[in-house]
Amino acid sequence: MIVVTGATGTIGRALIKELGGAARAVVRRAEQGPELGCDYVVGDLERPETIPLEPGDRLFLNSSLWPGFVRAHQAVIDRAAAVGVAQVVTVSVYGVTSGSLLGFGMHGQVDSHLKASGVPWSILAPVGYMQNLAGDIDEEGRIFGSYGSGGVGYIDAHDVAAVAAVLLTRPVGADTTYDLTGPAAPTHDEVAAELTRALGRTVRYVDLPVEEAAAHLEKRGMPAEVARDLAELMSQIGDGRWADTTTTVSDLLGRPPRSLREFLA
Ligand SMILES: NC(=O)c1ccc[n+]([C@@H]2O[C@H](COP(=O)([O-])OP(=O)(O)OC[C@H]3O[C@@H](n4cnc5c(N)ncnc54)[C@H](OP(=O)(O)O)[C@@H]3O)[C@@H](O)[C@H]2O)c1
Repeated sequence: MIVVTGATGTIGRALIKELGGAARAVVRRAEQGPELGCDYVVGDLERPETIPLEPGDRLFLNSSLWPGFVRAHQAVIDRAAAVGVAQVVTVSVYGVTSGSLLGFGMHGQVDSHLKASGVPWSILAPVGYMQNLAGDIDEEGRIFGSYGSGGVGYIDAHDVAAVAAVLLTRPVGADTTYDLTGPAAPTHDEVAAELTRALGRTVRYVDLPVEEAAAHLEKRGMPAEVARDLAELMSQIGDGRWADTTTTVSDLLGRPPRSLREFLA
């Protein structure tokens, strides 16, 4: 059985479709289940014993981030190892380590735990999702950031789901981290131009030095320390570390990843 956590999320829903409903979804509230188009159980990653795992199952482990993310994901991995799960496929972020800032560091800690767990693993390591971009536009058509002119190989989260489906349905392979990107790595000026084209109204990228980006985020309600780290993360991304593109999506899917223009259309 393929057990899908984060089933109501962007990747989870797309994954269940890719699997043709041949999955067991874990949902936090019973009313979320019927619309998913597959078998489901009520469970919560905060309570690992509620995740329905049996020997030989294949587990898709994914959720959004919250303060208890590391502890919960590590506990579910321990349970998967104890039960004798055949494979854990999880979603992390491209290039992270335990020492990375904010959620990136959380992912790094979970990844290290998974690699040491003894369970066969596949870690999906995407860069940013195309799905985020439109939500970053403010009322005046601006996107603020401190990425500078560094490109980012934005990927459609549905391509991440398609990769997960392949890994969960073919024979379990060697433990591997899959670095996932879209087909190109536009700068944020280029992203704004694509958004302008797709939305039919002007979108402008406004680049700010880290201090100013942090102040901007703080003004919008973010705690000072988080705002500072987020601005710093954006400038780290802007140094070019997310500007490479990989062929992993096309290698696994036999088709290219969706471009930003296709996604926005
Ligand atoms: N956004 C990006 O650009 C980006 C880039 C790289 C990697 N990532 C990673 O991608 C992952 C998010 O994937 P996504 O976009 O598919 O997520 P999403 O759409 O935000 O959905 C999150 C899912 O997690 C579930 N969830 C949250 N807390 C849970 C808990 N305690 N127990 C069980 N389920 C829980 C939610 O369930 P409910 O419906 O009950 O809330 C929902 O199904 C994160 O790990 C993120 O760091 C994101």
